[in-house]
Amino acid sequence: MARNIKHTEKFNNFNLIVFGGTGDLALRKIFPALYHRYVDNQLLCEYNIVAVTRKKGIENDFNKQLVSFIKASVDGNKINEKELNTFISKVSIVVAESNSVEGYDNLNTFLAPFNDYQNIFYFSTPSSAFGPISQALKDSGLVNKSSKVVLEKPLGHSLESSISINNEITRTFDENQIYRIDHYLGKETVQNLMVLRFANNLFERAWNAENIESIQITVSESLGVEKRAGYYDQSGALLDMVQNHLLQLLCLVAMEPPFELEAHEVRNEKLKILRSLRLFNKKSIHTDSVKGQYTRGNIEGDKVSSYLEDIEKYESKTETFVALKAYVDNWRWKNVPFYLRTGKRMKKRYSEIVINFKEVRHNIFPSKEKINNNKLIIRLQPEERIELVQMTKIPGPGGYRYKPIALKLDYVDSFEERFPEAYERLIVDVIRGNQTLFMSQDELVAAWTWIESITNNWKNMNVKNILYEAGSWGPGDGILEEKESWVTKSWKK
Ligand code: BG6
Repeated sequence: MARNIKHTEKFNNFNLIVFGGTGDLALRKIFPALYHRYVDNQLLCEYNIVAVTRKKGIENDFNKQLVSFIKASVDGNKINEKELNTFISKVSIVVAESNSVEGYDNLNTFLAPFNDYQNIFYFSTPSSAFGPISQALKDSGLVNKSSKVVLEKPLGHSLESSISINNEITRTFDENQIYRIDHYLGKETVQNLMVLRFANNLFERAWNAENIESIQITVSESLGVEKRAGYYDQSGALLDMVQNHLLQLLCLVAMEPPFELEAHEVRNEKLKILRSLRLFNKKSIHTDSVKGQYTRGNIEGDKVSSYLEDIEKYESKTETFVALKAYVDNWRWKNVPFYLRTGKRMKKRYSEIVINFKEVRHNIFPSKEKINNNKLIIRLQPEERIELVQMTKIPGPGGYRYKPIALKLDYVDSFEERFPEAYERLIVDVIRGNQTLFMSQDELVAAWTWIESITNNWKNMNVKNILYEAGSWGPGDGILEEKESWVTKSWKK
């Protein structure tokens, strides 16, 4: 993979200060992302990376973990030890015993010689700590106009709590200093949606209710809740995946072309979509939503436990699967259903967007064999490809016989460039100060408003989880077939 792009863009010197700096996300994603951009020679400035932790005396352990996570992020584990050591020397660990001026003493001392660098604070902690950390940073004099703050999800657990967290943070940081991360927006295949739509006249012309029958957005995971039982049981699939990742995908698919690729233009277009989402009501919550929870099962030959066993509880109402039929009530998308589906412990891991075009208006072929709709399949992961399914003549005699064949573009194989991780692009965008790929507070409020029309109606109308076996395709697999064909439609692979 080519890594030899010549970078010339100079960044302002920075201190990246990660709260929750010894946690899983920091070790697995944040530090390796920076390592890769350092190896790519993109960090053309002076910088320090600081892992803030509550735990004393874990320096050695932290360094070992850092090395092993970085090595794990490199293809085939081939690593240049010299580069690795230089990068590791940029990462320091600092103990902050409490979120207070005294607690941040060590941090203040560490940062003092670099007080002309921009401070980028990365909050990789539960969101209940965001307010107290912001306040302590402000009181310690560590925040100025050039400072930025990066917020990891979940930003609250309801509209009200997310607004109150935002109110606490904005006592210290202005909206233009706040970067709310949704790592889906950093994925190359997701960014390619913008290019696919807005750099190809062909698709954009047909991108509307006149030509499109429905759109499916699917994120299927084979993993369970892993070590995050506590967090997940408070959230569930709707808040963990739909409120952010799936809604952001929907926005990119549905939004109007922005006037230009500036943060406020793109974010405003996404906001209009979120505001146009049809709210769920007493009736549609039954017809247009399904939630489920996994029971024991088998994934690729391995026995896996049920959700309740995974979280070590006898009972839980939390959903690990959700399927929704959503509508964007605007001119372009009138009555086009957007099927959003996501679940844990499904048969396979894959994420994809399918644009189902309408049937041809009239079948001229004598056989009157069914003509399938064209489909544009955008596979986001684990493979990255685009397929355009079109009807094609079967060669040979027998009149006009035809079948659907896909034109395929393999995204990775078509390029020599290295395929970067989502966090790389996002962190670099924070350093350079570009908010395009980050959610605005208005977007968050609009997303929560729609999500609450689901959670409130689930509660009020007593909508229950449908159990599904781990390793199946979710509640649609045989159970809902008759009731709701849309849950299963094109979901199985
Ligand atoms: C996270 C969720 O935001 O996204 C996880 O909290 C989920 O539950 C993950 O597994 C999926 O991300 P990806 O990049 O693996 O599709």
